[in-house]
Amino acid sequence: MKELTPQSFDSTSLSPPQALLERLKDYGQEDTLCLWEELSPEERELLVRDLESTDLPRINRIFRCSLQFQGLPAAAIEPVPEGSVSTVEERTLEDREKWWKLGLKAISEGKLAVVLLAGGQGTRLGSSEPKGCFNIGLPSGKSLFQLQAERILCMQRLATQSNDVGFVQIHWYIMTSSFTDDAIRKFFESHKYFGLEADQVSFFQQGTIPCISKDGRFIMETPYKVAKSPDGNGAVYTALKYSRFLEDMASRGVKYVDCYGVDNALVRVADPTFLGYFIDKGVASAAKVVRKAYPQEKVGVFVRRGKGGPLSVVEYSELDQSLASAINQGTGRLRFCWSNVCLHMFTLDFLNQVANGLEKDSIYHLAEKKIPSVHGHTDGYKLEQFVFDAFPYASSTALFEVLRDEEFAPVKNANGSNYDTPDSAKLLMLRLHARWVVAAGGFLTHSVPLYSTGVEVSPLCSYTGENLEAICRGRTFHAPCEITF
Ligand code: UD1
Repeated sequence: MKELTPQSFDSTSLSPPQALLERLKDYGQEDTLCLWEELSPEERELLVRDLESTDLPRINRIFRCSLQFQGLPAAAIEPVPEGSVSTVEERTLEDREKWWKLGLKAISEGKLAVVLLAGGQGTRLGSSEPKGCFNIGLPSGKSLFQLQAERILCMQRLATQSNDVGFVQIHWYIMTSSFTDDAIRKFFESHKYFGLEADQVSFFQQGTIPCISKDGRFIMETPYKVAKSPDGNGAVYTALKYSRFLEDMASRGVKYVDCYGVDNALVRVADPTFLGYFIDKGVASAAKVVRKAYPQEKVGVFVRRGKGGPLSVVEYSELDQSLASAINQGTGRLRFCWSNVCLHMFTLDFLNQVANGLEKDSIYHLAEKKIPSVHGHTDGYKLEQFVFDAFPYASSTALFEVLRDEEFAPVKNANGSNYDTPDSAKLLMLRLHARWVVAAGGFLTHSVPLYSTGVEVSPLCSYTGENLEAICRGRTFHAPCEITF
């Protein structure tokens, strides 16, 4: 069939191109043209181009399958057995040292790459810039991207010092979307990649997908533009494949991939302990988990799908409220207590397997949202794949508990909300770093109560509180301040 191009129709005609109209009718999307008469010729061209580039059969298939799946009774879920999580409690100092060394060795051999998921729109935070550019109000004024870049720099230094093979570089692959790509690239350029080499940072874009009303019609953002949203962080697998970055990783000798969300101020990027644990366990995928703080906390939880089934995550928006608050009578803890913190480790082999298999059999999640549209805000669905949808495909998955106050400071909502704000994340970081400084022999003075302030340790100096004695012992710091070389 000959593709209709914007040039091949008369944009001054009062009727839309017939062939396009017929195709849209086949999929019940002819309403997208209903304001045609009111559009200028330029707007008509934009609309035709937009609709022509939309894969109608694919979207139709995805929407129907996902809607059908949503209507099915949820498969029985079981809590993750306590024994299948490496808990902080059971970890010995020897374990931690062993894993740190093992991970650091793999990093110094160039076997680890880092993938950042930064395609989300961050609507809850209410900032117009991508979340990673956000300054959470630390004394240094550093953005989330800068904190992460400096942790990579620190880890490169530690890995370089720990071996005799020369300078170690960790490659950072950053997934953007059409909503964040331009701003993120410019932010990195204008900040000179925060001290990283420009060619060790690679950007790739995930796709977008139309937002759909409850009756399955495309929502129009303007009279000539379909409302679209990024297709979820689970797009990372296909986006890595189509950008050829899986091949790029293989050519660099990468074996393991650390994959994480942008909005955690305490994220340990390229964590050698987690990597060492992962290698030691010999699994295909792993996730860091924290204990869920309270039943309604907006975190996905790890579950088993059916008795003895694979590990997977049920997102907070999809977990039945009675299950979210169910208590294990034996332990008195929440039955579904292992929270996903969006910090995953995969083998490159597994990423390849998922990238080649996931899209065709996978279901998209339907997130009910108020979508900005030509009619104000329309109730509808955003369609998303989730990064953790891949876990059930893994031959083996391991869960690694970390402490919330050491590794999880989410930045989700604007200041003024009750939880997960830039302020709460900043405070978690200042308090943790204050403990590091005191443990390293430093002293703190403060003119506001210490529980509401603290100090910031530059990631360039220390990754997890190590190597601070030389800077801190016997010195007094007035909180809040940044401690750096
Ligand atoms: C996410 C997790 C949730 C976890 C919580 C912890 C997913 C699907 N959900 O929830 O289980 O408990 O973090 O903080 O992972 N992103 C993209 N492309 C998109 C959408 C999102 O790259 O299309 C990125 C975001 O930029 C962010 C990460 O994925 O870095 C998480 O996305 P977000 O929508 O913020 O997830 P949460 O609802 O917070």
